[in-house]
Amino acid sequence: MQLPRYIAHRGLSAHAPENTLAAIQAASDASCEWVELDVQCLGDGTPVIWHDASVDRCSNGKGALINMTRNDIRPLDVGSWFSQDFRGERMALLDEALSLVSALGLGLNLELKINTGHDPAALARVAVHRARQVLPLDQLLVSSFDMSALETARAEDEALALGLLYEAVPRRWASDAERLRPTSVHADWTQLDQERLIEIQAAELAMLCYTVNEPERFSSWWDHGVTGVFTDDPGLFDTRYQRRTRGDGSRKPR
Ligand code: G3P
Ligand code: MG
Repeated sequence: MQLPRYIAHRGLSAHAPENTLAAIQAASDASCEWVELDVQCLGDGTPVIWHDASVDRCSNGKGALINMTRNDIRPLDVGSWFSQDFRGERMALLDEALSLVSALGLGLNLELKINTGHDPAALARVAVHRARQVLPLDQLLVSSFDMSALETARAEDEALALGLLYEAVPRRWASDAERLRPTSVHADWTQLDQERLIEIQAAELAMLCYTVNEPERFSSWWDHGVTGVFTDDPGLFDTRYQRRTRGDGSRKPR
């Protein structure tokens, strides 16, 4: 799998509300090749693209996802909190996001987000099944902080590319890797450790870092062999990616 140097974190989240169809479209419009999206299940089992355990921060509603159904989330406005340009944006169902990612020819890092009280195996089964129906193997990378979710994902599909997701890479990463046979290791760049990075490179795995929005401070890590970064705005790094002014209304109609 050819992993990119820049992955638009939660879509192009510097310029559109995170984890929405608008953020996926904005990433594509800005010439990004890959997006990272968080997926989790509502209480009725519907997989949706969302980061937090509740809708409070990024919508005009309140409440925990685990207590909500598809009918509850449909009326929510998940765009206005970011900018009035995105007023009326709806929470994306996983299926809608997959269709758009596929139509735009993007690669997808789908992060299985296991918030408290959610079932890792149920999420992994439904998310992997649906993603594999839509995306080819070389355009899909499934990651999670939750190793049991990754175990289920691996059991679902022997050939699926997996990413081990950590804050700081722990000493046990190699035993996780032996069990899960990942393609990549993902870590918080502010907690990167050169010794671990050397081990990961020696194992011929890709190293992806999140969430990098300070190119200058990060720059020396490229020399140490980091493969790529999750960033809210690839335009910060490289002029090939279109830079946008926040909320400038420049998104194209879908
Ligand atoms: O997958 C990388 C990154 O998205 C992990 O952290 O909290 O932004 O989902 P978070
Ligand atoms: Mg994420």
